[in-house]
Amino acid sequence: MTRYSVHPATAADAASVAGLLSRQADRLETLDPRLRMPRSAAPGGLVAVSPSGAVAGHLRPMLVEIPSGDEVLSFAAPRTVHWQELVVADPEALNTLRLAAAVPDAAEGVLWPAVDSGASFVAVGLAAAFVFALRPPEPLEGGAAVAVRRARHGDTETLVALHEAEVGFHEPHTPYIRRVPGLEPAYRARLDRVWADGDPAAGSSVIHVAEADGQVVAMCESMLQIAPTTGAASRLPPGRYGYLNSVSVAAAHRGSGVGRSVVAAALSDLAAYGVDGYTLWFATGNPLARRVWPRLGFRPLWTQYERRF
Ligand SMILES: CC(C)(COP(=O)(O)OP(=O)(O)OC[C@H]1O[C@@H](n2cnc3c(N)ncnc32)[C@H](O)[C@@H]1OP(=O)(O)O)[C@@H](O)C(=O)NCCC(=O)NCCS
Repeated sequence: MTRYSVHPATAADAASVAGLLSRQADRLETLDPRLRMPRSAAPGGLVAVSPSGAVAGHLRPMLVEIPSGDEVLSFAAPRTVHWQELVVADPEALNTLRLAAAVPDAAEGVLWPAVDSGASFVAVGLAAAFVFALRPPEPLEGGAAVAVRRARHGDTETLVALHEAEVGFHEPHTPYIRRVPGLEPAYRARLDRVWADGDPAAGSSVIHVAEADGQVVAMCESMLQIAPTTGAASRLPPGRYGYLNSVSVAAAHRGSGVGRSVVAAALSDLAAYGVDGYTLWFATGNPLARRVWPRLGFRPLWTQYERRF
């Protein structure tokens, strides 16, 4: 039995919730100044109330449903309740709110500052699944002496194979990533756009490849990402970022500096668009990614905790 009761948030709760969120934001933004935490809650949330009537927590559930055939299903559950504007006084308040927000057959997920302990999420059955990492805008020194160039139309089939290999590499290591039917068509559509206009400022991907002995052995797909200057808390400080969407080195060439070289070239080209930093996601279960990205200057900013069914 829980000590707490839960009710839909009303205007009467707004000041208490904002007070809790603001104190939490002060604490977390001090620990990691790159963070922008929410300081008030949008309508539609739930509050946990103690027997004395004090607000002890808030969570706004947001149900996200991914249509079948979407490439996003390679890493996201078909239905997930995302916990927004979460703040709790203790683990019991978290569990009470979680149960009230649960949707049958839907996963649960929360994006939480990497600098903070996720112990309370683990205690209620979630696990760290993904990390969103940020790198400052400084240039990256290359690794292996390989030829790196922009991809061209004739590289298409090699690129598709490298992208599929990147996703497939995760399968033995994590239940959160798998190859789905939508993966290849979506990547081919992005490649078609690259061959058609290729303007990253208009949303196109940028693709770099590395060659060894005249063969393409690595691929880096990147794009520009804009973080808003206004509105609700953003995942990133306001600005423009170079986002690495897919990086893949052929198995026989891994661990010899090829990845460093192709990423260094991508960062250098993205710098021409005036970026404030570079971002990427990686799966915590990927034994290479969690070692390689810190070596290339990417520092965890957020951790995505999930519970799947
Ligand atoms: C992740 C990947 C792109 C990295 O490319 P790579 O060519 O293997 O990496 P590099 O050899 O350039 O190594 C880059 C850095 O990571 C380090 N590193 C590489 N493999 C490592 C390992 N197994 N253990 C510890 N450190 C490692 C290197 O020492 C190097 O550090 P340094 O240059 O500062 O000395 C590549 O391994 C790959 O394609 N993996 C499978 C798919 C994948 O995981 N993609 C990324 C998904 S987010």
